Amino acid sequence: MKILVTGGAGYIGSHTCVEAIKADHEVVVLDNFSNSSGIALDRIAEITGVRPVVVEADLLDTPVVEKLFKEHSFDAVIHFAGFKAVGESVSEPWKYFHNNLVSTLVLLDVMRANNVFNLVFSSSATVYGDPEVVPITESAPLSALNPYGRTKLWIEDMLRDIAAADSRWHFILLRYFNPAGAHESGLIGEDPNGIPNNLMPYITQVAIGKLKELTVFGDDYPTRDGTCIRDYIHVSDLAEGHISALDVIESVKGCIPINLGTGEGYTVLELVHAFERAIGKPLPHKIGPRRPGDSAATFADPSLALELLGWKAKRGIDEICNDAWNWQSKNPNGYQTR
Ligand code: NAD
Ligand code: UD1
Repeated sequence: MKILVTGGAGYIGSHTCVEAIKADHEVVVLDNFSNSSGIALDRIAEITGVRPVVVEADLLDTPVVEKLFKEHSFDAVIHFAGFKAVGESVSEPWKYFHNNLVSTLVLLDVMRANNVFNLVFSSSATVYGDPEVVPITESAPLSALNPYGRTKLWIEDMLRDIAAADSRWHFILLRYFNPAGAHESGLIGEDPNGIPNNLMPYITQVAIGKLKELTVFGDDYPTRDGTCIRDYIHVSDLAEGHISALDVIESVKGCIPINLGTGEGYTVLELVHAFERAIGKPLPHKIGPRRPGDSAATFADPSLALELLGWKAKRGIDEICNDAWNWQSKNPNGYQTR
């Protein structure tokens, strides 16, 4: 297939480009590098031997997107582009509504005008809000806890409505649990701006000495060690899930949500201990107060992904930690240095 990957220079997008190229798809990346580096594309070329076509552009720029679709005959689009920082979405919701929603509308309009009806969308387990039951199946109630989550939910709703109105569309909504780790080469990985919000990049930056210590947000949850449980999924497994989605997208009727998780939950302290095994030394950490809005336990029922995509996660928590550390230690300042 010839595929357009929006946001293909980003964390999950870059790993998906690698897997797509490995699967012999032809990849065109559109990215404005608002949260990524062009160096990621060099690294994709280094890993695969193939340099994807890269268009540095904003998905909000309709004429540019129209031109792109005139120049290439795409079979499908994987849509990663968007902002994802929960805290920032609370303080600047308009920025999230504009970038995430309007860019998706532009994309859908241009796709329809060019008869491209296959879309894989980056959704998130955040659409389950604070889940009442775990493991979470795709039929669990949906809600949003913050403006970022609301953009995911609204886009999902838009795609459901569009699919119901026009049977030419095939949408797969991939609801990611907690992506972590990096490509086994250590050439691409997560490179957050400023102080990381998410657990794994925070841990790796403590390990490299950029941050002093990890604060574990609460140890009084009703879990086996009192810290929150999450479903950490290796980013290369996640990337492979997108390729499996491309394989079946033509046969999908309408709009289908699919969880991408491992089905295994780990506590914060279990992840810290796994990481300590990976680096062979203790990781400085202390217990702090709960982070508002956190749910005690979130992990996937990934059985639908196996049934519909023939996909399941292959890599475990130790591989996630080893690969995250391999990336961070080879690239202490992310893409700024080698
Ligand atoms: P990322 O920030 O690394 O990648 C997003 C990419 O989109 C970046 O390269 C950025 O420059 C680009 N981009 C943003 N707005 C754009 C625009 N208007 N035009 C062109 N390019 C634009 O994030 P990621 O972690 O790779 O996440 C990818 C997608 O997956 C996002 O939609 C995110 O919401 C979703 N998601 C991520 C996680 C996670 O934990 N990383 C979890 C669930 C869902
Ligand atoms: C976050 C986002 C969520 C997004 C998900 C996957 C928030 C509130 N939610 O959720 O929208 O879908 O990432 O990208 O940001 N932790 C610590 N110390 C830290 C950082 C995290 O103890 O310094 C704990 C958290 O309390 C949580 C776990 O580690 O229990 C994982 O945190 P994080 O990586 O932020 O992911 P989520 O909370 O699942």
